[in-house]
Amino acid sequence: MMTFEIKSRDAMGRIGILNINGKKIETPTIMPVVHPNPKKQVVDIDLINKLADVIITNSYIIYKTKHLREIAIDKGVHKLVGFDKVIVTDSGSFQLGVYGDVDVEPLEIVEFQEMIGVDVGTILDIPTPPDVDKEIAEKDLEETLRRAKLSIELKKDRGFKLLLNGTIQGSTYLDLRRKSAKEMAKLNFDIYPIGAVVPLMEEYRYRDVVEIIINSKMYLPTNKPVHLFGCGHPMFFALAVALGCDLFDSAAYAIYAKDDRYLTERGTLHLDEIKDLKSFPCSCPVCSSYTPKELASLNKKDREKLLAEHNLYVTFEEINRIKEAIREGSLWELVEERCRSHPKLLEAYRVLKNYIDYIEKFDPVTKKSAFFYSGVESMFRPEVLRHKKRLKRIKYEKVYITTISSSVEKPYHENLNVIETDIDILIKHPVFGFVPYYIDTMYPLSQNEIPELYEFEKEINKKFYDEFIVWLKRKIGEDNILDIMTYNYYTSYFQSTKKGFNSDNLRIRKMLQYQYGYDIIDDDLINKIKVVRSKNTGRLRQVLDENNNILFTVRSNDNLLIPSERGAKLLWEKILYPRYRVVVNKEAEEFIREGRNVFAKFVVNCDEELRPYEEVLVVNEDDELLGYGTTILNGIELKEFNYGLAVKVRGGIKKVLK
Ligand code: GUN
Ligand code: ZN
Repeated sequence: MMTFEIKSRDAMGRIGILNINGKKIETPTIMPVVHPNPKKQVVDIDLINKLADVIITNSYIIYKTKHLREIAIDKGVHKLVGFDKVIVTDSGSFQLGVYGDVDVEPLEIVEFQEMIGVDVGTILDIPTPPDVDKEIAEKDLEETLRRAKLSIELKKDRGFKLLLNGTIQGSTYLDLRRKSAKEMAKLNFDIYPIGAVVPLMEEYRYRDVVEIIINSKMYLPTNKPVHLFGCGHPMFFALAVALGCDLFDSAAYAIYAKDDRYLTERGTLHLDEIKDLKSFPCSCPVCSSYTPKELASLNKKDREKLLAEHNLYVTFEEINRIKEAIREGSLWELVEERCRSHPKLLEAYRVLKNYIDYIEKFDPVTKKSAFFYSGVESMFRPEVLRHKKRLKRIKYEKVYITTISSSVEKPYHENLNVIETDIDILIKHPVFGFVPYYIDTMYPLSQNEIPELYEFEKEINKKFYDEFIVWLKRKIGEDNILDIMTYNYYTSYFQSTKKGFNSDNLRIRKMLQYQYGYDIIDDDLINKIKVVRSKNTGRLRQVLDENNNILFTVRSNDNLLIPSERGAKLLWEKILYPRYRVVVNKEAEEFIREGRNVFAKFVVNCDEELRPYEEVLVVNEDDELLGYGTTILNGIELKEFNYGLAVKVRGGIKKVLK
């Protein structure tokens, strides 16, 4: 039995709860590779038990080693390795990759993994090396797919309890990786490892690994964990998690230690380098008990064990750091930090620009922490791309385009001495393209830190400006666009042309257009709504209807408009089906009306364009409004997940008796 649900997220990364046979694992996590022969295991299983909720070991080694096999068959794999939590096993594919041959049949090893009580086994996939002739990669992939089908059939026919890893192969051919993902997805494996990346990792070919991950992820079901097979170096974790990898395995902690190498989250140090250090850049139990000199002077065996322990500690430490970054919405910042520690990593990160349309679909629309610009790569992040797209949601009539000095503090409208107007003022922005004056408080337009940019960085959006203006001209006509120099000189132009104009109301109208893509406060409502400001800060806090009922609350951290029940009804009236809707079945209807959360298994349809953390309407199949809340899943995931929370409901809508 396996379930997987998303608890929190950032970038394409997610904090998930993976429940395997009643044992809970929080992802992303690392599975230390444990040698099935206790004599060959460098780090005590006690420490592994303390740090890990899941380990990986090798069923082929057990199968081939008489005394291990006997214990495993007799007492089970958990007793053999001394680990009660989740045990994943590999199948001999790694040996197949190294020696070109293994002494076991594909179905035999699946059956063996079931027999010894493994939690998650692996098919005997063929790890095709990088850059082989395409015919070879194709042939290998066909064979892997054939074995995959047979393994799934065997499991079904025999009623195996064993969960199965269905490894994605295809060498460095991205079309083959996509094909592999598509075909494996049909077979409904429990976990999807991405295979044969070890040689690429060893050669620092991170860019290839990134391309392989994305091209696989695109065709894999979103509701299954993805394991980056053989990636145990913590410096790559943040990037891999940001691309949606949930599981890692590490033999690296032991292999590197054997070779006198000391892992850090930024790279690897060799013993020769450690020797010269005054102190360790780490405070794990090993590093706080030994000086570098002391460690270096130990005998090989003791040193290896201690290095392996340190390597394991830093590996988990990085995983924990990544999880915190996901919770606070700063995973991209962590990735950008990591990618500065090696040019090959930076090169890999830069490739994301080519896939950003896809990545953006998974990136939350709001984050607790601010957007930090850490270099030119930040220009191409999903938050920026999304803003540029959503600029087109605003209904423009007459537009002034202007620039302001970079010294003006955010939000701009509080620091510019202008007469407010019903004309749309678009402030040119070197990163976000344009900041519309009336939505300048909304995430990420005020929630960002950007240093003074180089001239070349300021040039990057030139094409975007031009294209946007062309679009705008087509929308509202050339005569309605005025280009003006700098704000302060021209304030007199910014006067209302309409009677009864109220800039607060217009601000709310524009904010809603930007957030939902619909004119929620239309011409009819614009003069009826009222706003409430905070007594402390003077900032907009609430939107009321003409009877002083709350329609929306302006959330202080991101300035998104959070609907009340009345607000939700208004959204429902103005936004056409299925936009901004999550549709649930009859079974869930009463629960939602009572204000209970939407679970993924009740979702029958949704707006496919939904992004994580958007405010959404929950409706039944007749589009009757049942409730409203925040979606945890995006439009793709809402349809694929059948377990866990889908929408955190803020309120239910009682049925009106006719
Ligand atoms: N360990 C590292 N890479 C691989 C792979 O591609 N397949 C399997 N089964 N195990 C691996
Ligand atoms: Zn340490």
